[in-house]
Amino acid sequence: MSQKFYITTPIYYVNARPHIGHAYTTLACDTIARRQRLLGADTYFLTGTDEHGQKIERAAEAAGKTPQQFADEVSNEFRAVWERMGLSYDDFIRTTSERHKQGVQALFRQIRDNGFIYKGTYTGQYCVSDELYVDAVGPGATCPDCGRPTETVHEENYFFKLSAFQDKLLELYEQPGFIRPDTRRNEVMAFVRGGLRDLSISRSTFSWGIPVPDDPKHVIYVWLDALANYITALGYGSADTSKFEKYWPADVHMIGKEIVRFHCVYWPAFLMAAGLPLPKSIVAHGWLLFEESKMSKTRGNIVRSETILEVLGADALRYFLLREVVFGQDGTFSFDALVQRYNSDLANGLGNLASRTLTMITRYFKGEVPYPSPARAAADDAIAETARQTIAEAGACFDQYHFSRGLEVAWALLAAVDKYIVENEPWALGEKQDHESRARLATILYTSAEALRIVTALVHPVLPQATAKIWQQLGLGRIEELNLAALEWGQLPLGTKLGKVEAVFPRADKTAVQRMQAMEEEQRTGAVPEAQAVPDAAAKTEVAPVPAAVVPAALIPATAAAVAASAPAKITIDDFAKIELRVGQVKVAERVKGADKLLRLEVDLGTEVRQVLAGIAEAYDPETLVGRKVVIVANLAPRKLRGLESNGMIVAASLEGGKPVLAGFLEDVPVGARLK
Ligand code: ME8
Ligand code: MG
Repeated sequence: MSQKFYITTPIYYVNARPHIGHAYTTLACDTIARRQRLLGADTYFLTGTDEHGQKIERAAEAAGKTPQQFADEVSNEFRAVWERMGLSYDDFIRTTSERHKQGVQALFRQIRDNGFIYKGTYTGQYCVSDELYVDAVGPGATCPDCGRPTETVHEENYFFKLSAFQDKLLELYEQPGFIRPDTRRNEVMAFVRGGLRDLSISRSTFSWGIPVPDDPKHVIYVWLDALANYITALGYGSADTSKFEKYWPADVHMIGKEIVRFHCVYWPAFLMAAGLPLPKSIVAHGWLLFEESKMSKTRGNIVRSETILEVLGADALRYFLLREVVFGQDGTFSFDALVQRYNSDLANGLGNLASRTLTMITRYFKGEVPYPSPARAAADDAIAETARQTIAEAGACFDQYHFSRGLEVAWALLAAVDKYIVENEPWALGEKQDHESRARLATILYTSAEALRIVTALVHPVLPQATAKIWQQLGLGRIEELNLAALEWGQLPLGTKLGKVEAVFPRADKTAVQRMQAMEEEQRTGAVPEAQAVPDAAAKTEVAPVPAAVVPAALIPATAAAVAASAPAKITIDDFAKIELRVGQVKVAERVKGADKLLRLEVDLGTEVRQVLAGIAEAYDPETLVGRKVVIVANLAPRKLRGLESNGMIVAASLEGGKPVLAGFLEDVPVGARLK
């Protein structure tokens, strides 16, 4: 019978758009889940979004939306990015779903029935940003966790008898590996030893939450609501509890270090109170820093996964984060370091070894894995021995979530094989036809290909896309069917017919960093407000017969090369017909305060004058635009930018490394004409 393995990410708040901090946790879990599947475990991988509470209610209000509309939009964005990254989660739970609400109420009832909930009055401070009750500080105090001002709350609430669990929790922390790493365990123990006060678990002064059963004036505290996702997703409290019975308790709750207290103190106490089994481990990683501070919405220093996917691909982001950051510690993200790692370790490392080995087998042995000669040299045996050690060591590292070290070990094998190839000069042997040279060449290429197979198998959970391609090129079929537990030296079948050999990691050129920075900059300054409002494919298809592909500049921050690399899908004429391109005349043009790239235009469309915001201020002085004819995407949904509404988008050409150029040739075209 196969073992089960249940792993979860935190569910992310929908007040902020997804960035690579969220991606970091999620892709680490994805890597662990993929490894477990290859090892034969019946794996369940859960992620989702946290959508209730005062913080979300206020963010929605600020955006002029209902909380549900707002949550729907951002939750969909999370899911869309995860899909684009090819993450292998089994379920995506939303706290506004019926199944979750039902499960949370069942949990509340169970804890209440067991006598751990009572009514009382809370007077004290609350941090809305952390959704945290802040004890023992007076009015006006700042939150000890995030430093933001707290708000005074005075309400009749339901309380949870957290104080009853102090000893049981301390006992739990003795269990080896329950809290990882040790630094976090020590912090939690100190906190609990300091004494636990009962916890308010309801609010009555706002309404965006799950009603308390039998007392709907109260909504359940958002952290009780959120933590319960780990069981409601499995059907706890529903008619079908088969998944709950199969997968609970969780093997790993993966989290960032700032939410350790909720997961290591509150969550096990809630479960103990409900009489439910406890998770086996809580693993906290460190923060991704960018420009020297924690990447976060509040600081505005975020980097989006999409930017990296567009230019270097999902595997590049996965590799970088898991290789560069020591798991558990804080780590710094930079575009320079990302591109450097990509080129040195992926393009020149794994990618180069794959293409040189497979190309030589294609050239010298008609694309069939050659039979090694029984007369082996010491160098051949040394590679086999290193590979055997690598299987054991890298595997052990990955099992302990020491990703960085595991990758280092795997790359040491790659380096050894590179050296072996250079020293044995297979290309020189390939020029000769005598029996001895051919036998030697066969051994060298077999040894290299077998080592390549082993590294590819070991790092598949980290680099799922590239390794799937290498596996195909090795003629081995679907890598997902590999049995990692049985991986050994010497399993590459002799005579295997290779697939078509193609580069898996094309080198990134000098402009890669620049392009990614520009994409992020445009997001931040709001110069690209409409980016996702037109289908991607439409943006990348020629829409006008002028030399530079005329596409909305805003939509192609990357160069033509990156666009080509991402192989846009073709659209049909019907898709194109959905885009209403019209000629308009600029009546008013002015700069937008505080936005370097942005111009506010009033454009006459014949039937109406539209306000349009355009990210072209660096290329055009406003004065030169008045009277000029422009093409606008007229049926774009309106967007707000810097408090101004934009109704449409100006079409301009994007030139590599250059500034946007407005689509021209229009002077004879009447205002209002539609372009088809
Ligand atoms: O805390 N570096 O949601 P959240 C590393 N809804 N990881 C980061 C990161 C960064 N700069 N930024 C975010 C919440 N993360 C609650 C959780 S769970 C029942 C409820 C990751 O949107 C990291 O995993 O603030 C962190 O713990 C999580 O996102 C916080 O996401
Ligand atoms: Mg947070």
